[in-house]
Amino acid sequence: MTEPAIRAIDVIRKKRDGVELSRLEIEYLVRAYTSGDIPDYQVSAWLMAVILRGLTRGETSVLTDAMLRSGDVLDLSDFPAKKVDKHSTGGVGDKTSLVLAPLAAAGGVVVPMISGRGLGHTGGTLDKLEAIPGFNVNLSVPQFRSVLGTCGCAMIGQTSEIAPADCKLYALRDVTGTVESPYLICASIMSKKLAEGVDGLVLDVKTGSGAFMKEEKDAVFLAELMVETGERMGKSMVALITNMDQPLGLNIGNALEVVECIDILRGSGPSDLRELCLELAGWMFHLGKVASSVEQGKLDAARLIDSGKALERFRQMVVLQGGDVAKIDDPTQLPHAAQTQVVNSTKPGYVTAMNCEAVGTACVVLGGGREKKEDSVDPAVGIVLHKKVGDQVSAGEPLCTVHFNSAAKAASAIQLLKDSYSIGAEPPTKKPLVHRVIQNAMQPTGGN
Ligand code: URA
Repeated sequence: MTEPAIRAIDVIRKKRDGVELSRLEIEYLVRAYTSGDIPDYQVSAWLMAVILRGLTRGETSVLTDAMLRSGDVLDLSDFPAKKVDKHSTGGVGDKTSLVLAPLAAAGGVVVPMISGRGLGHTGGTLDKLEAIPGFNVNLSVPQFRSVLGTCGCAMIGQTSEIAPADCKLYALRDVTGTVESPYLICASIMSKKLAEGVDGLVLDVKTGSGAFMKEEKDAVFLAELMVETGERMGKSMVALITNMDQPLGLNIGNALEVVECIDILRGSGPSDLRELCLELAGWMFHLGKVASSVEQGKLDAARLIDSGKALERFRQMVVLQGGDVAKIDDPTQLPHAAQTQVVNSTKPGYVTAMNCEAVGTACVVLGGGREKKEDSVDPAVGIVLHKKVGDQVSAGEPLCTVHFNSAAKAASAIQLLKDSYSIGAEPPTKKPLVHRVIQNAMQPTGGN
């Protein structure tokens, strides 16, 4: 007896009524939507049912798997070393990828990194890389493999061959009010990352005023979901819940962030950025089995920076991907804005808080991010912070410097920046950079 054909309307009704979908139903939906056999309006209805009803852990991993297999999955089994990547859920001044890919590669882990562009008020790795004149983020898969084979890391954008179901679904979610589901976010992120053919993945899940998940409980829920989904697929996973109540480091803006990454790779740079890079690299080394513990991995990472080996790997990747390495050797040659203006504090005290999303928005307003999908970004503009949360400031002392190419845009950005600083009489209690670490999400934690 043949099975009755699956119909989209029945899958929509089932999810609407809160009934768990079967593997075959989810696979059908993803396959038929990707090939154009189900229209947008039916998938929109299904997505809204998911927003309202959620997905079980099993459904989430089947959806991720179906989206992952909608395109090519890179087979990197001919690379003997472990393949480990890092993914951040997005923040302001979050530039760790540019440090981590060459750093982890210098330590013996292969890093096949497929990244995105800026989203909303958050910056994107591809936009930062493109601030290096000539750097090509659009490598073909054979070129990507060749760079990986030569220097152990390569950084590119999503191609139409990788997880095409996510390309279609993400665009539909964007215009149907269905982005904000942890289950759909998990399937979207994990399908793309697992298509890279990695053995392990370190997730940096941001929480705070500059993150998409403002509440820690939401960040933890998403982190657990992603860790569990990866573990179900046999991957070594960890998620770090990290602070995004203020920007990471001091520089925000594409070329300015590249400069700060070069500082870190040269062994200097802001301490919070170095600390997070070492923490994430420590985990990459541990998951990649080149360090017996995270602590050992952190020590190894510090040595690779201090010896110049990580910087040398970064230079090599830049050359292989067509970038002008002279600009890395002399970062003053990277794009820089025509004008700068200092924003001063109007009163004395301590910086008690920053509206981190507003700082990210100020960078977008300057032209450093996109207001509309088709906008191009200005690599030169951005913000350099002089004061961050906990710092003492006197009246008239600089809080930050705005780097701009348009006075009208600068005026709006400066207002946002002024409003983003809270100055009070008492120093605030500082939050740690890493709030918690989530691993082994599938194992019972004991207790109730
Ligand atoms: N980033 C992604 O890649 N997908 C989402 O759904 C949200 C953020």
